[in-house]
Amino acid sequence: MNMLRVSLAFSVMGMTAVAASNSTVTFNKDVLPILQKSCQRCHRSGEMAPMSFLTYRETRPWAKAMKEAVLTKKMPPWFAEQGHFANDPTLSQDQVDTLVSWANNGALEGDAKDRPAPVTFQDGWNMNADMIVEMPREFHIPATGTINYQNIRVKVNFPEDKWVVAAEMRPGNPKVLHHGRVIVLPPGSSWMSNVVPGEPYGEGSEGMGGTKEGTDLLGKYNPGLGAQSFDIGGSAKFIPKGSDLVFNLHYTSVGSAQTDRSKVGLVFAKRPPQMRYWMSPGTPHAYNLVIPAGDNNAEVVSEVTVGVDGAKLIYIQPHMHLRGKDYELRVTYPTGESETVFKGIWDFNWQVGYQLAKPLPVPKGTKILAIAHYDNSVNNKFNPDPSKTIWWGDQNWDEMQAGFLGLMFDAKTDANQVFIPSGPSVLPRGTTAGPTLAAAQATGKK
Ligand code: HEC
Repeated sequence: MNMLRVSLAFSVMGMTAVAASNSTVTFNKDVLPILQKSCQRCHRSGEMAPMSFLTYRETRPWAKAMKEAVLTKKMPPWFAEQGHFANDPTLSQDQVDTLVSWANNGALEGDAKDRPAPVTFQDGWNMNADMIVEMPREFHIPATGTINYQNIRVKVNFPEDKWVVAAEMRPGNPKVLHHGRVIVLPPGSSWMSNVVPGEPYGEGSEGMGGTKEGTDLLGKYNPGLGAQSFDIGGSAKFIPKGSDLVFNLHYTSVGSAQTDRSKVGLVFAKRPPQMRYWMSPGTPHAYNLVIPAGDNNAEVVSEVTVGVDGAKLIYIQPHMHLRGKDYELRVTYPTGESETVFKGIWDFNWQVGYQLAKPLPVPKGTKILAIAHYDNSVNNKFNPDPSKTIWWGDQNWDEMQAGFLGLMFDAKTDANQVFIPSGPSVLPRGTTAGPTLAAAQATGKK
């Protein structure tokens, strides 16, 4: 009897001991796998985040801040409130609990045996490029002042048609490159035709190449964006034989003279694909926007109609400037049915793109409507001047309402027919506000 009691007590104690050591959250066993998956993309040296989370020693001082950042959902950065996206980095409740309990319980390192193998990052690139195209010369960024968007035609003259399955644009100097784009310039386009290759041209919003000449956004750089894959069930991006590339660069001065030489890496498809991946050149857009002075919730809408059969929407990246608040993309099918495929907060510092969890068929005749709101009041701490009525313009103190939408469609489809500006996007610019949804609907009624 006595014996039995003793052994029972022992076994109970033994079990508790085991349970406790299993439930002690450690860096090596529990935290590092989360950091590798969700944080190191930005939190490592040479990337955008100010501190690195590769090792225990680097991470330990940030334990409390990490707890705060994940509890408030400040990290990882993500702004969608509606829609389903393949690149949603939001941590699960379990992962949040793990980071919180690690911070609350002494932020222990744990057993080295539990540590997962480090993730290997290849020399800054997030992919293995077949070809790297670099700006031929450095661009000089002055210490102060604003710099117009720069367009630089880079002579490549692709010797044959190329299909690209992934691209990554990397800044030479991430301190000064706010964002950048690399655009395919097919032979025969009039845009950038009379320029000296390699020379920077401070042009306006024409920098997107217009919609008519087969230009296509190839690569983009926004802080934290990384490499972009165009292979969605076998699709790829098209570069016609003889094309050059245009680097479209938005620099900001940082108080000391700087230089930048950005580049883009490309991974080619092994064989021509059935489906083409195409990025709209900032369409739908509201070139006709007017944002009243002082308005804290100015509405601006824009629209395109799908002009071809068999297209699917796969990617959404809104673009606005410092007064932007939120952005919604609403799709209305030819049947009259309508749904919101994206809705989210706009934050100028994080130009995030959203990869749809499932490609969305948008049959010919589908209308894609963007609804954005702006805060042009004194309450917006980023507002450069609340006393001004704002029109479309390149600089941060002007505004934009543009959507870079990724679509896939049959490789033989003419890309110029895919999006036709319609509805509010073809209204003349009003004098006081808009175009608003109400005004657009009033005009749209037969
Ligand atoms: C897309 C890039 C990116 C990803 C992914 C990312 N971070 Fe960050 N993080 C940043 C940048 C940039 C900053 C500094 C600017 C800021 O605080 O907004 C930052 C700041 C922080 C800070 C300091 C916050 C403060 O208030 O000072 C913490 C803590 C942090 N990140 C934790 C994490 C954790 C934990 C993860 C993963 C679960 C993560 N981050 C994922 C880019 C990223």
